[in-house]
Amino acid sequence: MKLKENMNEVIVTLNDLRKTYQMGQVQVEALRGINLEIKSGDFVSVAGPSGSGKTTMMNIIGLIDRPSGGRICIEGKETGSLSRRELTRFRREYIGFVFQSFNLLPVLTVFENIELPLTIGAKKTSRAERKDRVEALLKEVDLQDRRRHLPAELSGGQQQRVAIARALVTRPRLVIADEPTANLDSENGSRILELMKTVNKEDGTTFLFSTHDPGIWKMADHILFLRDGALEKEERR
Ligand SMILES: Nc1ncnc2c1ncn2[C@@H]1O[C@H](COP(=O)(O)OP(=O)(O)OP(=O)(O)O)[C@@H](O)[C@H]1O
Ligand SMILES: [Mg+2]
Repeated sequence: MKLKENMNEVIVTLNDLRKTYQMGQVQVEALRGINLEIKSGDFVSVAGPSGSGKTTMMNIIGLIDRPSGGRICIEGKETGSLSRRELTRFRREYIGFVFQSFNLLPVLTVFENIELPLTIGAKKTSRAERKDRVEALLKEVDLQDRRRHLPAELSGGQQQRVAIARALVTRPRLVIADEPTANLDSENGSRILELMKTVNKEDGTTFLFSTHDPGIWKMADHILFLRDGALEKEERR
């Protein structure tokens, strides 16, 4: 386990972040000037009704999508001036993703799915190192006895635990999870949150996750409430 490092350092800054989608003649203002800071080691949830801009904001923070206006800095780096290639490299190095629908590759085993991010990109990880990391994560998400299974042979909760292990295998500073519990029952949803919280506490990994579920957003120590593309309220505990 890594020690918690650089606590309270700002990892994400949004300044007047805007996103407008053009739909034929109509402009949809999905984000209308968001300002916020996320600190290293934060456990942050994004709450808000459907269409409030949660996915749009998280995709921009995850460098999957670009804003129409405003600035986004990650690790103090202003990302607006980066090329696509630089964004991709930066994203691979700093950010892990977890999706609502798990997005595991169906033909790969649990072990291979978790290992996958270490086999792509410029940085090569040795076979021995990959094995060590995957084994440690299999233990962490309690799926050691499922390593040779295919995703279709797992429950939803187990698939999401594989997805979390896959997101963590590159040791990202920031994990972004868009509704990671939406396809799970409440018991499995809580278990996923507990797992994320444990990694957050032990490794200091910063988490940003969205949810519709008050029981889930209450488990965060920093809650962002979005409404109509604006940050309506922020709560810190
Ligand atoms: N690719 C797109 N093209 C046009 N409009 C879009 C696009 N993506 C999102 N929008 C619009 O932007 C707004 C914000 O959408 P977003 O998906 O960020 O909401 P959300 O809070 O994640 O909602 P949900 O809880 O349903 O996932 C909505 O009005 C949506 O219709
Ligand atoms: Mg969404």
